[in-house]
Formats: sequence, C-alpha cells, structure tokens
Amino acid sequence: MSESGHSYEGCHTARGLDEYCLLLGFVPESGLRILDVGASAGTFAKEMAERFGDRVVVDSLDLFGGEDVTEGRIIFTGSDDQAVEYYPHRRIVGDMTQKQFKLPPESYDLVVSLYAIPTWVDDLNSTITALIKMAETLKVGGEIRLFPVWINNLGYLSGFGHPDNFLQVKKISERYGYSFSLEPVVDEKGALVEEKARRLVIKKSSREVPPAEELMKTSLLRRLLLLLKEELQKEGNFLL
Ligand SMILES: C[S@@+](CC[C@H](N)C(=O)[O-])C[C@H]1O[C@@H](n2cnc3c(N)ncnc32)[C@H](O)[C@@H]1O
Repeated sequence: MSESGHSYEGCHTARGLDEYCLLLGFVPESGLRILDVGASAGTFAKEMAERFGDRVVVDSLDLFGGEDVTEGRIIFTGSDDQAVEYYPHRRIVGDMTQKQFKLPPESYDLVVSLYAIPTWVDDLNSTITALIKMAETLKVGGEIRLFPVWINNLGYLSGFGHPDNFLQVKKISERYGYSFSLEPVVDEKGALVEEKARRLVIKKSSREVPPAEELMKTSLLRRLLLLLKEELQKEGNFLL
C-alpha cells in the first residue's frame, strides 16, 4: 500500500499500444517523447520501444515502482539528482496529485493517462494539481490526452465534480493559451466505446501555466456559492 492508500495489486492493468491509441486518439510516430501517467506495469512503453526502438521515448510514471517491471528500474523519485537514464523506458515513481512532486519542465510532446488521471482522482484540487504538473512538463505545441472522464446522470465529471468546475478550469486555462476539448471515443466501426465517458484533450500553445491559486480559488468560490444556493433553496428561498 502507498501513503495515499492505493493498492498496486488492486489496480494492476496492462493495456497495450492498440488500446492506448484507440482510447486516447493518437497515432504513434517517430521522434515523440511521451509521458504515461499511471502507467502501471508500463506495457504501453514496452510495446512502443518494441515498435520504434530509440526513435520514441516513453517514460512510465506511477505511484509504485512495481516488481513486475522487467525492462526498467525505479530511476526517478522526483529530484533530478536521483535520475538515472535506463532505456528502453524510464520508470518514474511519484504522485501526480502531490504539489512537491517535480517533473522536468517542457520535456514531453505528449502526456497521456489511461484509466488513471482523472479517473482515480477523488477531488477537484488534486485534479488541478495533476493537470498543472502535466502542463508544466509538456512542451509548447504538445498535448495532454486523458481517458476516461466519466459523466454521471447529473453531468458530474470524474475528477472535476460539478460541470461548472470543468468549465471554469477550461476558461481560465484558455486565457493562458490552452485549449480544452471533451471528445466521444468511437471504435473503428464508429460505435461509442463507452457511452458515459469522454476523452479530454488539452493543447498547449504558450509557455504560461495557469497559477494553481487562481484555478483553485475560483473553483472553490463557485462551489461555495452553489452550496449556499442549495441551502437557500432548501429553506424555500428561490430568489438566487
Ligand atoms: C487502472 S491502472 C491503469 C494502468 C494503465 N494506464 C492501463 O490502462 O492499463 C491506474 C494506475 O494509475 C496509478 N495512479 C493512480 N493515481 C495516481 C497518481 N496520483 N499518480 C501517479 N499514478 C497514479 C495507479 O497506481 C495505477 O497503477
């Protein structure tokens, strides 16, 4: 068990290259530098290395080192002096929701997360922290691709909660040069893969990252207002 209480055995999955490309919606090409967040055993990195050799670099990040990582070793624990290059893939151990966890700035063309972020993140603040870390380590012109963002019957989104929170994070991020889109995911026959899930694609066109304080303050304020509104409605005051 990690400090955050997740069990490695309990969540172990090993989706490979085909599933990553389909669900995250990208075509693997030579020359890319990719970070896989919540990589579990790192099967995606391994298959990319088999297909592209050293023409693509995929670093696997997870809360755990994992005993079953045969091709890699724990090589990076969040401070540069502990980093050791190990090809075909680097294994980075760290928690994306922890503010003190540091990744190298502007290093990746693509940051992906499949069934990890924001699926596994419980609250909005942790989601924001993880997104900021992804944005910081992404090169200008790069993309963050995440799946799934689950949508429940009330429109609540995994990791973001109330849809207004998502819209605010999107709006503030757009001011800093990021574009946000929620896309349906379809298979090769055009059928929806998951009816209640969307892929989140974030593109970075500037060097600036929205400050955490601004994102959090605004979202929290909005949530407080919504709570206040609910309370007032319970008391029969529908003026708000
Ligand atoms: C369901 S597995 C998905 C593994 C792989 N991406 C796949 O699709 O086969 C979720 C992984 O996310 C990792 N994870 C969850 N929260 C994380 C966090 N805050 N930072 C880094 N990794 C995290 C878990 O340890 C787990 O290995």
